Amino acid sequence: MTRILFLGDIVGRPGLELVKSALPGIRAERAIDCVIANAENVSGGSGCLPAAYRQLRAAGVDLVTLGDHVYKKAEIIEILRTDERICRPANLPPEAPGRGYALAPLATGVPVAVISLLGRTYMRAVDCPFHAFDRLLPELPANCLVVVDMHAEATADKYLMAHHVKGRVAAVFGTHTHVPTADEQILPPGTAFQCDVGMCGPHDSILGRRIDRVLHHTLTAMPTPFEVAEGDVRLNGAIVEVDSANRATRIERWRSKSAGSV
Ligand SMILES: [Fe+2]
Ligand SMILES: [Fe+2]
Repeated sequence: MTRILFLGDIVGRPGLELVKSALPGIRAERAIDCVIANAENVSGGSGCLPAAYRQLRAAGVDLVTLGDHVYKKAEIIEILRTDERICRPANLPPEAPGRGYALAPLATGVPVAVISLLGRTYMRAVDCPFHAFDRLLPELPANCLVVVDMHAEATADKYLMAHHVKGRVAAVFGTHTHVPTADEQILPPGTAFQCDVGMCGPHDSILGRRIDRVLHHTLTAMPTPFEVAEGDVRLNGAIVEVDSANRATRIERWRSKSAGSV
């Protein structure tokens, strides 16, 4: 049995610091074999700098996904080109730097891959994520345990993707909205699904950003920097158990308590 922890969008330094301090304990306590994290918001709330990526890897994150903010910190592009532990969304144009899936070997020898896909509802136009998945899946190593990060605004996009890929991947986790949904489930014959796993960051906020800043912009339409908030930092994600046939047998919606009491 393989146990995977998937962490939702890590937001800013508060999210990064809590992941760094809490992850070694969580890995040991829950006997986690592989950690996948979405890091699209880790650097200043938008994008992922190389230093943050390296800190996440050193803290025990095996595979890193991004999202619509993939290139907001251009310094990550060289790592996207050369490092197979991080990927860009697969349904960007073919010329976009980076690979469509990230790959890591488990201690058992089974490879784990995560495929990142972007939704198309209320988001910038991208290629069809469903056909992008179908094109990409045959390129993965045989017997690979596959997880999909479906980075989308609309719940229907995420449900449709889960039903499109069920039986072909071990799990589909939604990201991007930063708000966890209470719908974790196993879709027969063995694909775990949660529509959104939420974020790792300050919850006294608007999706990780300072409430006063976002409210001021909303009320006045004045340009306002949306700085990352600081209060009530939590981790949100999901833990899934996968059997030797790469089928999910159990999913648990998971969240830490506030910083310092994980
Ligand atoms: Fe995000
Ligand atoms: Fe996003």
